[in-house]
Amino acid sequence: MLRPCMDCHPDLERVLFTEEEIRAKVAEVAAQISSDYAGREPILVGVLKGSVVFLSDLARQLEIPAQLDFLSITPFVPSADPGVVRIIKDLDHSIEDRDVLLVEDIVDTGLTLRYLLRALGARRPRSLHVCALLDRASRRLADVPIRYRCFEIPDRFLVGYGLDYQQLYRNLPYVGVMKQGVVKSGIFRG
Ligand code: IMP
Ligand code: MG
Repeated sequence: MLRPCMDCHPDLERVLFTEEEIRAKVAEVAAQISSDYAGREPILVGVLKGSVVFLSDLARQLEIPAQLDFLSITPFVPSADPGVVRIIKDLDHSIEDRDVLLVEDIVDTGLTLRYLLRALGARRPRSLHVCALLDRASRRLADVPIRYRCFEIPDRFLVGYGLDYQQLYRNLPYVGVMKQGVVKSGIFRG
């Protein structure tokens, strides 16, 4: 699965998923969503900021009408109590009686997602499902349902295509593995 880095960012060890691989997979998932939601008008809920790049590509590949909304949660702090997540920017619109597709960049322990599913589920949407770009199932602590996923990933710290390290690298068009020395010890085990 891993390939040597040719022209990727110097802070990266390898490219894990190229732009072309991501485009093809996102198109596949978008086609599935378009078919599953045919005749409906889902709200795509993006979790800021990591899911923005994925959501904007996914939305443009859909063949059904869709609305977009965003929420923002307290940042990922691995040293803090992982159960503690807080919404710091809420949705602009009600999701009551709507079909909601929660779009996530990466599901790691699943604790963030579990919190979000509970919070959004309490608002009585007609349906609530998850679409994740990356799934690191090996680290799962909370059993969360992921209806659509693009890629399963290994236990290494990844950046690009929306994913950051200290708010950088989000705009790389591919997903890559950070060099061990660049990720400060204690930030992530990978
Ligand atoms: P979870 O609650 O452990 O599932 O954490 C999910 C969140 O952790 C993601 O939305 C990301 O913000 C962050 N995260 C987990 N792994 C990575 C990674 O490899 N790179 C960048 N962010 C990550
Ligand atoms: Mg996220």
